[in-house]
Amino acid sequence: AVPVKLAPSILACDFTRLGEEVKAVSSAEYLHVDVMDGLFVPNISFGLPILAAAKRAARPSQLIDVHLMIERPERYLADFASAGADSLTVHVEATPHLHRAVQLIRALGKRAGVVLNPGTALDTLRPVLADVDLVLIMSVNPGFGGQQFLPQALDRLRTVRGWLDDIGSPAELQVDGGVSTENARALADAGASVLVAGSSIFGEGGAALGLTRLRAALTQ
Ligand code: DX5
Ligand code: ZN
Repeated sequence: AVPVKLAPSILACDFTRLGEEVKAVSSAEYLHVDVMDGLFVPNISFGLPILAAAKRAARPSQLIDVHLMIERPERYLADFASAGADSLTVHVEATPHLHRAVQLIRALGKRAGVVLNPGTALDTLRPVLADVDLVLIMSVNPGFGGQQFLPQALDRLRTVRGWLDDIGSPAELQVDGGVSTENARALADAGASVLVAGSSIFGEGGAALGLTRLRAALTQ
């Protein structure tokens, strides 16, 4: 099996120490940046300046993975690309022009991701599946960190893993929400190639330890 990559979500970090927190997780393959507009989700997180700051603090080759929980994300793709995103992930529920959004991300030279809320039919993914670099399955309803993992995500991951393998797609399969040492192994077994984790990494004992613990849970 391919080794699973980790994507610490800075939503759970101590923002008074953003630079140090980002450096503490520099051994992770990805850095996950959650942008919320208070409209697509019932919360506002942060936007372009924080992304740019996180990018400056990150390891230069670390993949800056931007999860856009915003309505009509196509309006801001160019801005997030210039602010430091390497991959841009848009919700299928957030735009009537999903395929156009994917094309736009690719035209900006970035990796294109699509993401589904827990209540959204997986079929909405199929028309763009061959054109994306990343599929994200939400395992909580987006908007907040620290929520409980929804176990139906496991079956959804298995289904999408099958679809990607059927078409020979190299796209990453990511899962986000409630990821912990308890479920990391099962998520990898269900076909996830990237685990996003906020509160389980930036918790007690510091982010470096949180990252090590999650990595250890994967090799058990
Ligand atoms: C939720 C965000 C997640 C969040 C995950 O809307 O998309 O990336 O940071 O946080 P945890 O890992 O605490 O569930
Ligand atoms: Zn996220």
